[in-house]
Amino acid sequence: MKVAILGSGAMGSLFGGMLAEGGCDVTLIDIWKEHMDRVNASGLSIEGVRGDRVISSLRGVTDPREAGEADLVIVFVKATATKAAMEGARSLLGPDTAVLTLQNGLGNGEKLAEVIGGERVLAGITGHGCTLLGPGRIRHAGAGDTVLGELKGKITPRLKRIAAVLEESGFSVRMTENVSGLIWTKLLANVGINALTALTGLRNGQLLDYPETEELLRLAVHEAVAVAEGKGIRLEVEDPVEHCREIARRTASNRSSMLQDVTARRQTEIDVINGAIAEEGAALGIPAPVNRVLTNLVKVRQKTYGELE
Ligand code: PAF
Repeated sequence: MKVAILGSGAMGSLFGGMLAEGGCDVTLIDIWKEHMDRVNASGLSIEGVRGDRVISSLRGVTDPREAGEADLVIVFVKATATKAAMEGARSLLGPDTAVLTLQNGLGNGEKLAEVIGGERVLAGITGHGCTLLGPGRIRHAGAGDTVLGELKGKITPRLKRIAAVLEESGFSVRMTENVSGLIWTKLLANVGINALTALTGLRNGQLLDYPETEELLRLAVHEAVAVAEGKGIRLEVEDPVEHCREIARRTASNRSSMLQDVTARRQTEIDVINGAIAEEGAALGIPAPVNRVLTNLVKVRQKTYGELE
């Protein structure tokens, strides 16, 4: 299968690398030229939970037009860039190309559907944790399940085909007919972990070591559950707080994507994680003050990059 990874930071590189190991023809696409150049010159170096290795059977490009048409595009750009990235990557689409988003946060599938039409789009979540160490180098900090679904719900032959290709490449995969419940379930983990790690500098697992962060994790997730219930979302887990704790434990040594963003002084995905809970809650008349506080603090952090140190 010909696979293009649109946005090849830590997670995009991990998926691209493992799919290349599984025999797919993979092109990584990322605007960070040094990273793509290093992949082309020396391969992608992965260290961590599945062992250390260098994968040379993939290539990197900075312009999607160099990648040609793909059978499958996996979107891993920051949620803030979803629409613009897809608009600039139409050249990846042939008549039957499927586009799968595994990004964090709310609304990515819908944004892709606005650009390319809903029939091409699949969505999902992944429990893997990964850190970009430098150009051409990533650390796979924790493994978890990857769950996929069609935006329109049904388990289709193409969904089964994509799930099988991921399985053959070493991913543990499940399919669901409840993709919005799935995305909300993952969102609840990001709601509990990402902003708190970004603000404190703690690794995911360390959030559970301190009663103060553990309490905030719990309160933020409880608010998000109330909003999900208000929207009629069918969550995929019985106990979302325990699910969030479990993800923090399974990716204990990981620096969350939002912590990696603030460390590198990049814009974060706060608006589609805690910010989305505060906004959706306000629209429904469901208070979400902890999520509002976390959102505002991360935003101030972003606005003052470089000013306070
Ligand atoms: O955003 C992240 O970092 C990841 O979604 C997760 C699961 C919190 C692991 O670090």
